[in-house]
Amino acid sequence: MIYLDNAATSFPKPDTVVRAMSNFLERAGGNPGRSGHRLSIEAGRIVYDAREAVAELFRARDPLRVIFTLNATHALNLALRGVVRSGDRVVTTSMEHNAVMRPLRALERAGVRVIVAPCTRDGSLDLDAMYRAVEPGTRLVVVNHASNVVGTILPIAEIARLAHAAGALILVDAAQTAGVLPIDLAAMEIDLLAFTGHKGLYGPPGTGGLVFGENVDAAIIEPLWRGGTGSRSESEEQPDDLPDKFESGTPNGVGIAGLGAGARFVLERGVDAIRAHEVELTRMLIEGLQNISGVVVHGTRDAEKCTAVVSFTVEDRQVSEIGLWLDEEFGVLCRVGLHCAPAAHRTLGTFPRGTVRFAPGIFTTQDDIRVALDAVRRIVRG
Ligand code: ALA
Repeated sequence: MIYLDNAATSFPKPDTVVRAMSNFLERAGGNPGRSGHRLSIEAGRIVYDAREAVAELFRARDPLRVIFTLNATHALNLALRGVVRSGDRVVTTSMEHNAVMRPLRALERAGVRVIVAPCTRDGSLDLDAMYRAVEPGTRLVVVNHASNVVGTILPIAEIARLAHAAGALILVDAAQTAGVLPIDLAAMEIDLLAFTGHKGLYGPPGTGGLVFGENVDAAIIEPLWRGGTGSRSESEEQPDDLPDKFESGTPNGVGIAGLGAGARFVLERGVDAIRAHEVELTRMLIEGLQNISGVVVHGTRDAEKCTAVVSFTVEDRQVSEIGLWLDEEFGVLCRVGLHCAPAAHRTLGTFPRGTVRFAPGIFTTQDDIRVALDAVRRIVRG
């Protein structure tokens, strides 16, 4: 089996992640921050350690400004619904995933003005169009760091400067880039960073988070839900302390244990080394696919300008048919279709057919890529 679906979720997970999760269930297992006994304290220590690992990875100075969520979608909803009010103006791009577009369309129905800055046909942002879109008075700019369809990397620091000049906050959807590209909250001037735990951080599904930049006043952000936090239990009002304000209810301790181990795995390997490996595989994929007659590679076709996500189509062939052949005949696993990102596919000109998406990861080898390319060659030849 050759797993090329790391943009959907990374597989396999490092042994350290599996061990951290079974250790939590076998030896920690208390409810973190609730009780005073040793198992609760041990669970709390593991959760805090994960917060520290994530903070270190994103160069966030205060681990308490890392809010754990169920996934990136939850984090994005928390940020969008927590910050934006009726009458506000929000700017986004035409390359967003539905994790951004669907909450924005719902906010639009509640009186929020949503402006979609166009991207070019290779998924790159037209910075002039973004500049024109981000008028003074804009409340929030929300953009992906890299597309989940073609991997195109957006210039976050430049967009953040535009946003701040207009008095807006910037929310970055790092679902495809956490653990994959260097992220420095302060240097990139990111106010709100939504990440998932189960892709480039090698944690389990059901984990993710929202990180507050240093200049963000968490007091202005409404929680999505309220409830028990294990703190200030004398009060029936939600506490303002971080992270409790946004983390009501028993957390996914076992998942967070895995997420922490995954973040430490990334810190030990080094994001730069992971990136170098993925750039090499991406280059092989782009070149190899472009050399197959009848195959069209979408996006920038430049491994330095994208994450390890390569989308292609084959003339006169359905993407679902190609995906099925790849899996059943060649053991190559990938994702085909619209990837929950219809706006991105419209921008790329691949709507409604969608694309076949190959997404290698840290455990993918050059031999795996050769086998996958050979499989595509054979399928195209028929
Ligand atoms: N958003 C994930 C993907 O792109 C699930 O496949």
